[in-house]
Amino acid sequence: MKKIIFATNNAHKLEEVNAILGGEIELITLKEAGIVEDIPEEEPTIEGNALAKARYVWQKTGRDCFADDTGLEVDALGGAPGVHSARYATDGHDFAANRTKLLREMEGKTDRTARFRTVIALIEGGKERCFEGIVEGVITTEERGEGGFGYDPMFQPEGYTQTFSELSPEEKNAISHRGRAVKKLAEWLNQ
Ligand code: IMP
Repeated sequence: MKKIIFATNNAHKLEEVNAILGGEIELITLKEAGIVEDIPEEEPTIEGNALAKARYVWQKTGRDCFADDTGLEVDALGGAPGVHSARYATDGHDFAANRTKLLREMEGKTDRTARFRTVIALIEGGKERCFEGIVEGVITTEERGEGGFGYDPMFQPEGYTQTFSELSPEEKNAISHRGRAVKKLAEWLNQ
């Protein structure tokens, strides 16, 4: 079985990506690869961050790897939080504080359209490739649902009445930004 390092420490993401890859590729975590430090994410774009993370792992390990970066782009906020989605409200990854801030920023806004954009950067045998996944939707006026993570309780994908948090993990994966990007990655790796 092909082994590849997935540059994440987020257990939710690992679970999501494993479910989509369907056990055809063995994912090695950062910890298992011996990387315990935080990888810098200081680039001005989502693609730049994904590439920077993958390059960091490649340089440290010399092993095939991929990294993802995601942003929530809200039209009424000029594309914010975008590349700053993880640190929107605070310096840490405080999901609840980020949601509270976004709900506040969106008060009174009638245009609530938004999209999640994921870029996966793969380094295979030293060659770099990127895969993008996008899901369009709207920011709800209140949080709904218990599942998922991050902005899930306030993102309602186009064509659905539920938020990502109210959908099952399978339903979310089938249409999500990361699901779409991972499917492209899986097609590439399995061809
Ligand atoms: P990351 O680059 O994948 O770590 O994503 C940056 C931030 O976007 C995270 O801290 C989350 O707040 C948010 N995010 C990423 N993916 C999702 C998702 O699938 N649902 C909700 N929020 C997400």
